[in-house]
Amino acid sequence: MCGIFGLVADRDFDLGKALVEAGRRLAYRGYDSVGCATISASGHIDLRKDAGKIDAVDARLGLHEMVGRRGIVQLRWATFGIPAARNAQPHLDCDGDMVGAHNGNIVNNVQLREAFLAEGHTVRGENDGESCVHAVERYFDRGENMVDAIRCAYTDLAGDYAFIITHRDENRLYAIKKGSGLVVGIGDGLTCCSSDLPSILPITRRIVRVQDGELVILWPDGFELRSVADGAVIVRDAETYEEGMAAAEKGGYPHFMLKEIYEQPRLAGELLRLLDSSAEMPECVAMIRNARPLFLVGCGTSYHACLLGAYYMNKLAGQVAVALLPQQFIEQYGNSLTPQAVVVFVSQSGETKDVLNAVKFARARGVRSLGLVNVIGSTLTHMTDHYLPLACGYEISVPATKTFLNQAILFRYLAGFGIDTQSLHRLPHLLEQTIEQTTAAAERVAQRLIAWDEMYYLGYGITHPIALEGALKLKEITYAHCEGIFSSEFKHGPLSAVRPGYPVTFITAPDDAEMMINHINEVTCREGLAIAIAEEDDRLRKNVQEYVIVPRAGQLLNPIVATVPAQLVAYFMAVGRGIDPDFPRNLSKTLTVD
Ligand code: F6R
Repeated sequence: MCGIFGLVADRDFDLGKALVEAGRRLAYRGYDSVGCATISASGHIDLRKDAGKIDAVDARLGLHEMVGRRGIVQLRWATFGIPAARNAQPHLDCDGDMVGAHNGNIVNNVQLREAFLAEGHTVRGENDGESCVHAVERYFDRGENMVDAIRCAYTDLAGDYAFIITHRDENRLYAIKKGSGLVVGIGDGLTCCSSDLPSILPITRRIVRVQDGELVILWPDGFELRSVADGAVIVRDAETYEEGMAAAEKGGYPHFMLKEIYEQPRLAGELLRLLDSSAEMPECVAMIRNARPLFLVGCGTSYHACLLGAYYMNKLAGQVAVALLPQQFIEQYGNSLTPQAVVVFVSQSGETKDVLNAVKFARARGVRSLGLVNVIGSTLTHMTDHYLPLACGYEISVPATKTFLNQAILFRYLAGFGIDTQSLHRLPHLLEQTIEQTTAAAERVAQRLIAWDEMYYLGYGITHPIALEGALKLKEITYAHCEGIFSSEFKHGPLSAVRPGYPVTFITAPDDAEMMINHINEVTCREGLAIAIAEEDDRLRKNVQEYVIVPRAGQLLNPIVATVPAQLVAYFMAVGRGIDPDFPRNLSKTLTVD
């Protein structure tokens, strides 16, 4: 997830050091490129930027030596467009009078870029932050002042973003907010703004929270908020931020895991907007549809997304897809690969060694591949023929949550492309409702499970992958043993574990309720504790002791929605056991070993 920070002071000073320090404090959001721009009293713009981590880029380009009275630092997390100097931010306009940087996604970037090229703009890269600068320049050159040029640009820029821009001749910064975070800090002889609090708090605790659709103008000893819609001035007083730095980084949540679970509705919306505007989508879908066979390969949570993806391919596109672990792909299918085979490799990090082994194996045999990956610029994005981003930003907590949800959404989108992708747009709202409606119930269920060291998660058909994922989350962060299995398999052996109070959670999609009641009764008649995660259904209600009700999402979206309470149950149980869910023992976020 990109981060931006801008500062305007009443005199030239060694601003580079302040920008590097602010950049370091935004680094926890994740990034692959860094850039700084400083503007001196004379209006000279110094711009230094490159792909790489902040200390490495600083060592190469001397960011900390830059001077000026206004400056912007940006940390870029690539979504579309490779991490490279030309795509790193900030960006200049055509004649080098303005400099700006954004965070977020401009989903009509491809169309805007074409329009700017046709209008004769000097477009230097593929990055959407550059489009923001050209969008302002376009209106400024037609005679608008900066405020009105930015307001006009705002209507051209589709997506969720925050954006800072300045003109060499004015000792002011301008920033707008639409969907992404933007906070203003009021310091002594300076003002600043940032996507996030951690870069502001070491400078000042006097802050103003900018709202969507607002433009803020910053000068050394003041600020003005305006409505983008009509330009009217908005009066809002600064507040004093009382919390500590750790709380600021976690956005006020006690753990990154909870923050990342709560980010899911917004990230689902952002992913869908990106996919709707993706120029690569038709080619990726054609590759998948013509595949014979189609393999879906990943590890751990990403493997569970592959399992769900296989259901979507079957149910929506009538296509056989084989979900596999990487080693299984090599060992079980390695000798029978044909030129028509295609593999979708799924990975949050894009660096998982097991997955990369399978990618190398497939490449060596001429098998085409698509990567679904969160970290753009990772090895996986270089090794697959195409890749699509999960667009989740940095996932800090070791247990994967938001990346699983966006993997599932991406699979549902690919399977439904040309058939039905419209209904997916209900998801951001449904996920919001799910968080609201299931958090308390999940906490209650976690309390009932907390004393148990073994349990089961059962799913039927399309919810089977969610049973596996719920069980993985639970065992990963609570250290209890939890097995996820297909509910009809329970009677073929595992049922012997059931004794009075023994917990079994049934994740049930609406069309499978009747079948699931049979499996529930196998547990309840042996005095086990049956817990349902399902839409409201009277038949289920009469047969279980605990019921976590999810909103009505329908058969195909139910697994995505039902994942949220399963994540929350694991989270609350871990916290209840005194375990830090963000850093469970023995585990690492990225597994680069065999
Ligand atoms: C579980 C978890 C792991 C990862 C697995 C693959 O919460 O995070 O099971 O899913 O290690 O990692 P990626 O997706 O980075 O390839």
